Order: sequence, then structure tokens, then C-alpha cells
Amino acid sequence: MSPSRRFFFFSIFLLTLYSCVNHSQRIPLKGKISEKAMVSSAHPLASAIGLEIMKKGGNAIDSAIATHFALSVVYPQAGNIGGGGFAVIRLDDGTIASLDFREKAPGLADRDMYLDANGRLNSKQWSTHGNLASGVPGAVDGMFQLHDKFGSLPMSELIQPSIDLAKNCYTLTALAADILNINQDEFQQQNRWSIPHLSDEPWQKGDTIQQPELARTLTRIQLQGRRGFYEGKTADQIVAEMKSGNGIITHSDLKNYKSIWRKPIIGHYRGHQIISMGPPSSGGVALMQLLRGTANYPIANWGHNSAKTIHLMTELERRVYADRATYLGDPDFVDIPIEQLLDSVYNQQRYDGISFDKATPSAVVSAGEIPPKESPETTHLSVVDDQGNAVSITTTLNSSFGSKVMVQGAGFFLNNEMDDFSSKPGSPNLYGLIGGEANAIAPNKRMLSSMTPTIVTYNDKLKMVLGTPGGSTIITSVYQTLLNVIDHGMGMQEAVNAKRVHHQWYPDEIRLETDALSNSTQAQLEALGHQLRMTDKIGRMNCILVLPDGRLEGGADPRGDNTALGY
Ligand code: DON
Repeated sequence: MSPSRRFFFFSIFLLTLYSCVNHSQRIPLKGKISEKAMVSSAHPLASAIGLEIMKKGGNAIDSAIATHFALSVVYPQAGNIGGGGFAVIRLDDGTIASLDFREKAPGLADRDMYLDANGRLNSKQWSTHGNLASGVPGAVDGMFQLHDKFGSLPMSELIQPSIDLAKNCYTLTALAADILNINQDEFQQQNRWSIPHLSDEPWQKGDTIQQPELARTLTRIQLQGRRGFYEGKTADQIVAEMKSGNGIITHSDLKNYKSIWRKPIIGHYRGHQIISMGPPSSGGVALMQLLRGTANYPIANWGHNSAKTIHLMTELERRVYADRATYLGDPDFVDIPIEQLLDSVYNQQRYDGISFDKATPSAVVSAGEIPPKESPETTHLSVVDDQGNAVSITTTLNSSFGSKVMVQGAGFFLNNEMDDFSSKPGSPNLYGLIGGEANAIAPNKRMLSSMTPTIVTYNDKLKMVLGTPGGSTIITSVYQTLLNVIDHGMGMQEAVNAKRVHHQWYPDEIRLETDALSNSTQAQLEALGHQLRMTDKIGRMNCILVLPDGRLEGGADPRGDNTALGY
């Protein structure tokens, strides 16, 4: 069959799947169920590609890599080759691994690079917008490292479907059109030429986008491996892009980038083993601290989203996020007291002061309260194959479309991950998170993350794969979804659909999704002294649960276009 005919049949196949998916997402409390294998990601086309790879005999790692590349085409607000992330893996034989493919500060970065002459945060938003906001991307190296260690199909087969998608075109969902429309002004301001995501007319559901330059970049990666991105033409394009503005990423930054296999964070909760990501993500440590605190209390009896449960979670969260701000950063640059932070006595002492009669005010911090200003975007994908191997990957450009700069000629957006550093101690970042010395900017250092790709086992058998975007809310979304299944007895889709709340020490407020808490629960929490703030959607989980009979239930978040597909 000619390549164009093959693409035609593949597109029909994807479209067929897509219409089924939309239909199944309307079933409220039951997720996609499949017998053997499943992939859940932020976009139906990416999930379909990941599934197809497993049907062709690829394993969960192959599928996750193919899904990751596909997201860089069809989910450009967060799917990426210009960003970075973390992967947690558990093979059916019990092998556990975690890969850090987080971005790094460029070699020319400087701890005060976002401050003005008076030591104040520069008003030009350079840590979030434009070329100076970008860290050295880690995603492409990460995909090759994953593949070298665990992949089974040739890498070129995992990238080909994404090249086809970029070369031809993909169709926008209503949500995708909305998010492009919101970002049109920014695209115009940050780019000196037209990019495929700009349009004179508002984007609408059903419109298509073709990305020939991205197809060529992906083809270079396919043909030359990691050198197709970190050296040669793509590297030249990235460096030229940097030079055209105030960017500082150099050829040697790119050539020297390396993702790192890290020791996963492993803990236990009510008989389950929890495997998650360690520093430079704060996710795993914070999740384990929260679970340690929760294990002392019968929250199942107190009820899901009851005032007492939310009060406890809030009190735990404010203490854990305070620890995060003080102690966590890149382990290659700072000594992180991980063992102490996870120690049961330490946590017991931390939580001893919790009163059930009143909220503890968060410590007063000098900086003002700056709630998140723009729509954030990261994305998570979960995969289980027919052998029981599991992959949990969270990947990001940081905020939506990262720095909003598309590398001229190369067709991909660069991240604005530098904002995850603490640019100025005590000053909140995009997510209202404050930090200190441990997360100060330094050349070649990795910025602290909240990404929490997680895998749960029970009796040495895979039970759950989970994760989400959401900046600072990632940790608490994973925490709540885990509790929803383990304590509140929910199925996977129900646990994902359940309304979420969030507290992060500072600002000292509980953020809640609409209808998360009844009026009386809200009144009880306010009577305890909690500040409540309604917020937009929290998180977009992609999860998979192994049911007692061995089948798989997907939990694809209805807050996005998330889609679980399986066979
Ligand atoms: O690494 C982090 O914690 C952030 N850069 C994640 C950003 C994010 O989740 C935005 N998405 N909704």
C-alpha cells in the first residue's frame, strides 16, 4: 500500500475511534473498560496512536513514547518536544524505574536574571514570556533514554505516526479551538512570523492544522536520533531563535543535555505500595508526606469531601507545601533531607499540632498573594500493556504553549519552565508557589517541579497508574484521586470525575471547584477559620485502574478532551 493510502486508512481508523470516544465520555461514572491494555492521554488522536502501537506488538514504553510524540503535534499547549517531564515505570516482573527529563537552566543563567536594578521581580514577565523563559528542553533525550532501556519496537516506528499527523493535518476539538483563540494575541506578540496556530478568523471545532515544519523536525529526530534535536539543524534553529530575542540557550547547553535515571520515591498507604517521582520533582515526597498524615485517620468514615476530611487534608497540605518551599530543589545542587521528610516520627511531629476545632493560619510570608493569571497546561499519560507493564509520564511546557515562542522553521513551542525556579525568595511564581534558596536559579540546575507521575501496587500486583497536569495542584489532585479509590471505594472514572479542592500553604485559602462542597460543608469550614475560593477546573487526570478480575478501567478526565482507549 502506498504511504498516502496507508495514511488515509489510518486517519479513517482514528476518526472512527474518535467518534466512539466522544460517545463513551458521556457515560458519567464508568470509565472505558478493556481486557488487556490501555492508554489514557489528553487527546483522542494521541491515545489512538499509543493503542495502535501496542496492537502492533509494542510494549507500554513504546506506546508511551509514541503517545508523547503525538501529543507534541495534536496538543501543542503542553505536549512537547520543547519541554520536559518525568516518567515512572513499573514492569510486570517488579522492575521499577524513574526518569528525570526535566529542563535545565542554561549555562548562562544567573540567580538574579529576573530581577531589576532594585532587586524587584522584573515587570517584563521574562520568566514566563519570550526566549529568556526557556530551560534547555529534555523531552527528546528522555524519549530516547526510555527507549534505550525499555523499548521494543524501533524508535522510527514510534515517531512515524506523529510525522504523518504533522505533515497532513489534525482536526481541532471545541476545547482545542478555545485555547488557541485565547492565545492568539500572545502568539502574535512573541513570534516574528506567522505560525500555523495563528488565524485571522477565530478557530472553530472541526478546523484543521497542518504543521510541515514540525514534521521535518520530527523526521530529523527519526533519522538522526537525539542528535536530530540537540545538534545540527534543529539546534541551529533553537540557537538562532534565542539570538533573535533575549534568549541564552547555547549549542553546548543543547549538546550536553542529559536526562537522568533517579531513585523513585516509594512509600506505603493502607497496604498499597505507592511509587512516585523524586526530586527535582516535589511530587513524590509531598504525596508520601500527605499519605503518611492521612493514614492516621478514618477518612472513609468521615466521607468524601466532608468538612472534616477537607479540614484534615488542608492542614496536612499547608504543612507539606511549607516543607516543599523550604527543602526541595534539584538534588544535584542542594542536599535534600528526603529520609527525614519521609520519616514517620518527623511527620507525626509535624501533624501533632493539627486541631479539629480550628484552622491553623499559614505562616505569614512577605510577598503578596498573586493567584495564577493564565491558563496552565501540562499533560499526563498513563499506559498499561497486555503484560502488565505500566508507564506514568507527566510532561510540560509549563504554562499553556510555554514561552509562546515557536522556534522559527522548526515548528515547535519552547517551554517557560524557568518560572518554576524561585526567581526571588518569597515571591510567588505563576502558581502562587513560593520558594527559597533550595530552588534558587543556578546555571545547569533543574527547576523544582510538582509533577507527580505515580504507580500503585497491591500485593505486588499493579493496581493503578495515575497523574495529571495542574501546576501546584498536581500533588493534591493525585492525592485526592488516590484516596477516592483506596478510601472512598470509587471506580477509576468516578474517582477522576469527583470534584477537587486544593490548599498549598500559601496563599492561605482552600480553592474549590464549583459544586465540590455542599453549602453546609463550606459553612463548617469557614466556621473553622478557613478561607474558601471558588476556582476553575483543577487538574486533568489520566488514570488506569486494574479491576479485581484483571480488566482495566480508564479514568480520563472530563475536564479536558482526555480519552482512554484499550483493547
Ligand atoms: O513542573 C511543574 O510543576 C509545572 N511546570 C507544571 C505545570 C503544569 O502542570 C501546568 N498545567 N496545568
